[in-house]
Amino acid sequence: MLKIGIVGLGFMGKMHYRCYNSLDNVRITAICDADAEQLNNTSGVSGNISGAEEELDLSGIQLFSDFSKMLKAAELDAVSIASPTFLHAAQTIEALNSGIHVFCEKPMALNSQDCGQMVEATRRSGQVLQIGHCIRFWPEYVQTKEIIDSGQYGKVLAATFQRLSLTPTWSWDNCFLDGKRSGGAMLDLHIHDADYVHYVFGMPEEVFSRGVIGPSGDYDHTVTQYLYDDQKVITAEGGWIMAPDFGFEMSFKIVLENATLIYSSAQQPTFKICPKDGETIVPEIPDGDGYSFEIQHFVDMISGKSVQSVITPEQSADSIKIIEAEKESIRKRNKIQLN
Ligand SMILES: NC(=O)c1ccc[n+]([C@@H]2O[C@H](COP(=O)([O-])OP(=O)(O)OC[C@H]3O[C@@H](n4cnc5c(N)ncnc54)[C@H](O)[C@@H]3O)[C@@H](O)[C@H]2O)c1
Repeated sequence: MLKIGIVGLGFMGKMHYRCYNSLDNVRITAICDADAEQLNNTSGVSGNISGAEEELDLSGIQLFSDFSKMLKAAELDAVSIASPTFLHAAQTIEALNSGIHVFCEKPMALNSQDCGQMVEATRRSGQVLQIGHCIRFWPEYVQTKEIIDSGQYGKVLAATFQRLSLTPTWSWDNCFLDGKRSGGAMLDLHIHDADYVHYVFGMPEEVFSRGVIGPSGDYDHTVTQYLYDDQKVITAEGGWIMAPDFGFEMSFKIVLENATLIYSSAQQPTFKICPKDGETIVPEIPDGDGYSFEIQHFVDMISGKSVQSVITPEQSADSIKIIEAEKESIRKRNKIQLN
């Protein structure tokens, strides 16, 4: 039985709790949150994405307010980091140095320099570090990558991704709306699509972005073009300055030579394949979401099972580099080279 600790019992910490709790070979034995009120609040939460509404049962779980004390006292096999982004690098490195595996929420860190140190600590420690890029595990996005890789509908000609949200006013200490601690919507939200573009199409040669400064004091809405050495047209739009009633939607449209793939989290069915010749196909989507599949993957990795590589710390660090290049592109009003 693997012993898991969670740090940060906010929205994502509760989501992680739900994911580990549904697995047989792991047990959550410790939880740390610096804010005692958060540890007392065992009601489930609902955020942009549902799935963490379950009431928590913390009986038998050791509770800590100090991360270092939890690492020393709890004899964990792994820790799941769901604290605000500005803490990811230090907590990840401390946990790896203490000899345990780490699952850390995305974005990996606030900047590439910190990511470099996290990659270095992973190599030195020999432990697993998985960053929570849940979209790589989200069923419709998984099927889409399989369809593209199979070549069954030909090459991708164009793709557009969108991730739009109302303004997140609900985080602990209003961290999301402090760009210095969250990186703003580009690093926090839009990175999901930047990372997926990176996963499916590889590192872009160049990026060209426009962006709007929002309530975080950083760029909170962007449109980015990812430039490759062929003709395909890849764009992503993301941000959290939509009006409250808009809520949240993630979506894409991908134009292949012989089909168009359409996904929207706000529609039913969520995913459709429209072949050039023939009727629209509505594929079966497996039960579960990207959060449960990514945690399952992490647990398989740390259990020593042989699993296909889906995400490495180096790739996660490269996704931060993409966002940095996008922000530079906005500032300089020019294309920025990545490769
Ligand atoms: N993968 C996704 O789809 C997704 C969705 C939402 C958030 N996130 C990421 O997860 C992280 C947390 O976001 P959230 O929405 O859960 O935020 P949140 O504000 O709901 O929760 C953060 C928690 O961390 C605790 N905390 C603060 N400082 C701490 C410290 N020093 N030690 C221990 N605990 C501390 C807070 O008390 C709070 O309970 C962020 O990095 C965010 O970007 C990822």
